[in-house]
Amino acid sequence: MAGADAGDSTWETSTGVPVRAVLFIGAIFLAASCATAQRGATSVPPGATASAQAGRQIAEIKCAGCHAIGETGESRNASAPPFRTLSRHYPVTALEEALAEGILVGHPEMPEFRLTSAQIDDLLAYLESVQERRGG
Ligand code: HEC
Repeated sequence: MAGADAGDSTWETSTGVPVRAVLFIGAIFLAASCATAQRGATSVPPGATASAQAGRQIAEIKCAGCHAIGETGESRNASAPPFRTLSRHYPVTALEEALAEGILVGHPEMPEFRLTSAQIDDLLAYLESVQERRGG
């Protein structure tokens, strides 16, 4: 029992550095994933078109901070739906108009963003490519 106290204080005095180190590594990881996106060496589902690959880069830069953009994984913002689930509610092409206007319904926390029509096409192609397969 006495040993537990000693263990606690050792743990506490040493946490400051590791916690900072983890945050720092996280920052490097983020920077690295941006660099990867710019090189175009991102992973896309098999069969994804060049347009969908470009769309993934847009999603990584503009959306991945809150949404899970891939075929797996959890959203960083718990209230932001993973992109692969969007077609549960509507076809992803239904988003084209909202994206073109730079507005998305239900985005109170989201900074305003503007996409060109080519970027919207790419983003939609990517969204299509990651939709969960159902009915099988
Ligand atoms: C700052 C965080 C944040 C960013 C960045 C963000 N979103 Fe969202 N998004 C949310 C949240 C939170 C919701 C859920 C809002 C709700 O349900 O009230 C959401 C919901 C959505 C929805 C579902 C809307 C609906 O009503 O069904 C779509 C589609 C969407 N986001 C697309 C995008 C796209 C595309 C991008 C990148 C261009 C993006 N989001 C970037 C936070 C974000």
